[in-house]
Amino acid sequence: MAGELDGRVAVVTGGASGIGRATVLRFLDAGARVVFGDLNERNAERLLDEVDDRSRLRFVRADVCEESEVAALVAAAADGFGRLDVMFNNAGVGGAFGPLTEIDAADWDRTFAVIGRGAFLGTKHAARAMIAGGGGGSIVNNASVAGLVGGGGPLAYSAAKAAVVSFTANAAVELAGHGIRVNAVCPGLVDTPLVMGKDEDSILERMATFQPWPRLGRPEDIAGLVLFLAGPDSAFVTGEAIRADGGMVAWGPRMTGTVDPRGLTRRYAGFADGSTGRPPTRRPLT
Ligand SMILES: NC(=O)c1ccc[n+]([C@@H]2O[C@H](COP(=O)([O-])OP(=O)(O)OC[C@H]3O[C@@H](n4cnc5c(N)ncnc54)[C@H](O)[C@@H]3O)[C@@H](O)[C@H]2O)c1
Repeated sequence: MAGELDGRVAVVTGGASGIGRATVLRFLDAGARVVFGDLNERNAERLLDEVDDRSRLRFVRADVCEESEVAALVAAAADGFGRLDVMFNNAGVGGAFGPLTEIDAADWDRTFAVIGRGAFLGTKHAARAMIAGGGGGSIVNNASVAGLVGGGGPLAYSAAKAAVVSFTANAAVELAGHGIRVNAVCPGLVDTPLVMGKDEDSILERMATFQPWPRLGRPEDIAGLVLFLAGPDSAFVTGEAIRADGGMVAWGPRMTGTVDPRGLTRRYAGFADGSTGRPPTRRPLT
């Protein structure tokens, strides 16, 4: 069976770990040639060692905050592999944390540099290469549920991810005439070194209070969605920000009586008739 990305060339930033790494592997599986960038050369070497067909995979050390390095990363695909079809702006860090009254302005700026400036620079240089190639393309930005609602992550991180969601929509409008689609993925909690590690037990314990799906997200869950957005099946999808969060945002504020997947608030069924003067009906569930 032909792969969704046969003959295509993709760039992945932050490709040496977590979601980026899973996406590199998924793109290779789908037939693409891939250039991945990262700051962590050790993890990059590990990934390179894992892949049998090295003719379709290259690594370029590239900091997404540095314009010349992003340009060189894109050039490694456009010149080295002869074209660019897919750009996944994925690199990210947790960034500044703590109460907002304690956040250093420099740490705020660094957070926005990796997340906001990184997505902008990746999109800018990918779009240039795609426009020059004349064949359109697909750009995917890794945002987060933290960019959609409050309480999804540290303050600066969340604000920067919200910027990525807005940037995605506007870039999609601007690049549509060139046949370039721009979308964002908004992962919920995904099992990667970014969020797990020393707080792992506490995260797993608390998960049941904020996510209805009974397991953590896996990097492969997000890679599958990125592949869909990169490939031909999403040809009419652009300007979107698609959640892959195990229903976290859908679950919302969990007011009394709303669906509780663990059954704790659903011991009765019936009908509430509001202020009609008619009494509610209510029957216990066994
Ligand atoms: N894990 C989650 O729960 C989750 C949820 C929502 C969104 N995300 C987003 O997914 C993306 C990937 O995160 P992950 O969870 O796979 O984390 P990860 O730490 O496993 O991978 C992130 C990669 O980005 C690289 N990186 C960081 N700063 C960089 C820079 N300036 N230039 C180049 N590379 C850089 C890191 O070295 C690392 O290899 C991030 O944008 C993150 O915000 C993750």
